[in-house]
Amino acid sequence: MFYITTAIDYTNGAPHIGHAYEKVLADVLARWHRMCGEDVYYLTGVDQHGQKVQQKAEAAGMEPKEYADMVMQKFIALWERLGIAYDGWAATSDPRHEACVGKILTALKEKGCLYKKAYKGFYSVRQEQFLTEKERGEDGNFGPEWGEVVELEEENWYFNLSQQIPWLKQYVTDHPEVVTPEFRRQNLLNAIERSEGVDLCISRPKSRLAWGIPLPFDEEYVTYVWFDALVNYISFAGYLKEEGSDLPEFEKLWPSVCEVIGKDILVPAHGIYWLCMLHAMGFEDKDIPRLLVHGWLNIKGEKMSKSLGNIVDPNDLCDAFGPEAVRYYLVRDTKTGYDSDYDPERLKMIYNTELANDLGNLCNRSLNMCLRYCGGTVAIGAEDDELSANLRNSMADTVKRFCQLMDEYNTADALAALNAHVGLCNGYIEQKQPWVLAKDETKLPELQRTLAHLLESCAQIGYLLGCVLPDASARILSQLNVDGSKLRPQTLAWGVLENGHTIQAPSPVFPRILSEEEKAKLAAKAAKKSQK
Ligand code: ME8
Ligand code: MG
Repeated sequence: MFYITTAIDYTNGAPHIGHAYEKVLADVLARWHRMCGEDVYYLTGVDQHGQKVQQKAEAAGMEPKEYADMVMQKFIALWERLGIAYDGWAATSDPRHEACVGKILTALKEKGCLYKKAYKGFYSVRQEQFLTEKERGEDGNFGPEWGEVVELEEENWYFNLSQQIPWLKQYVTDHPEVVTPEFRRQNLLNAIERSEGVDLCISRPKSRLAWGIPLPFDEEYVTYVWFDALVNYISFAGYLKEEGSDLPEFEKLWPSVCEVIGKDILVPAHGIYWLCMLHAMGFEDKDIPRLLVHGWLNIKGEKMSKSLGNIVDPNDLCDAFGPEAVRYYLVRDTKTGYDSDYDPERLKMIYNTELANDLGNLCNRSLNMCLRYCGGTVAIGAEDDELSANLRNSMADTVKRFCQLMDEYNTADALAALNAHVGLCNGYIEQKQPWVLAKDETKLPELQRTLAHLLESCAQIGYLLGCVLPDASARILSQLNVDGSKLRPQTLAWGVLENGHTIQAPSPVFPRILSEEEKAKLAAKAAKKSQK
């Protein structure tokens, strides 16, 4: 089983390119494991509770639930467009989730992991939050951005996080696999080292925040949004589900789970709170999940933010370039784990070179030549010469490398490996010049062998691309008359196309993305033509 989850996105605003990157990355990995014949369960969804959503709803004159569901529809529509094939949808206002959070809170309280305590401190009325020393300006005062600041005493519920920390430190030290990539595990270890033995406040008084899951044992309070949200990974996997519930069987999914999250929510949310919550609930070491931590997409080196006005809406990119170009760009140009810079010029460039020129041309030319010179039938033809043997070996190495890199979540290098083989194929066409071979009848076996090598490469590459570009892959395979469902990456070997295999006429799968200038030129040409 491969149970893959992502962070659940806040429903306090529209989805952006960072959200899209994470969901595409997880979708590519989910599709990859499905291709490999594994049972896959992909869970994603939305984080609907909390202060930010309540405030946005108020500003819009809506009920929080109504507002959160309205924003949720934007996420659902975008994932549909981007071909995100999730199996389960985690929305935290779902009663099945609320029931699970309630049960967990009750159990933790019975175990003595929760307690109530008064806290006195400075409170910003405008921001509706307690302020700490960190929020004081250089002059020792709280700045004007906090509005009116009052001293306030408030009782709340706490989770005994500090008591779990010694276990966490040992666990993360002993289990390098808990966080990928390794340098992020080091970040977590440093953070644990610095953690100051403070417990986690897990409640908010209803008087200042009503939009949350009520504490089952104290009706004056709702649950702190992170404590609620983190539970989604198990609640929607069937943990403590009700009789007759349609949620999955928890034991089937857990603990073979990979949680895909961004670097900003490793510390403290996932790496500290979440792992400690599970430990406190009684999860054993063997049942602790793995965290795959990706970097951030920035814009020209800067953080995406409302104040900079540089937020990229993935819908605009889908309009301009098509969803598959966006998918390819996201997992091709970002090395999993590291930050990258979003740049639409690079999107166009990578798509036009690697897909439109390199792979698209390879498929079109190979299919066309097979139709023109060999009646659309693949024949094995002559035995390999050195160049052909080289191509055959490169294909085998490429498949092996692709599998290994995908298993390491390294989508960027996996796709680069495919592109390198495509480059070799295009070079092979230039060296073999099938159009010259076709003029000499005695060269027929060599011509057949050349085209068979090219089409075999198209079939294998087209198949492997299925996890990143499901539509394009299906179209390539259908032109080649190949049934991808019969193939497996691990056993993919030369001979997908047997002697006598027939193919269809090509139709371009990757039309070039044109610049405005190119579009104008084309339009002018067409206008001229129609005048004649
Ligand atoms: O953090 N580049 O929600 P969120 C890449 N609800 N990834 C980015 C990004 C960027 N520029 N900006 C955000 C939350 N992300 C919580 C999660 S999980 C129990 C609760 C990623 O909408 C971010 O790292 O702010 C996170 O993994 C996801 O998008 C949702 O971010
Ligand atoms: Mg965030």
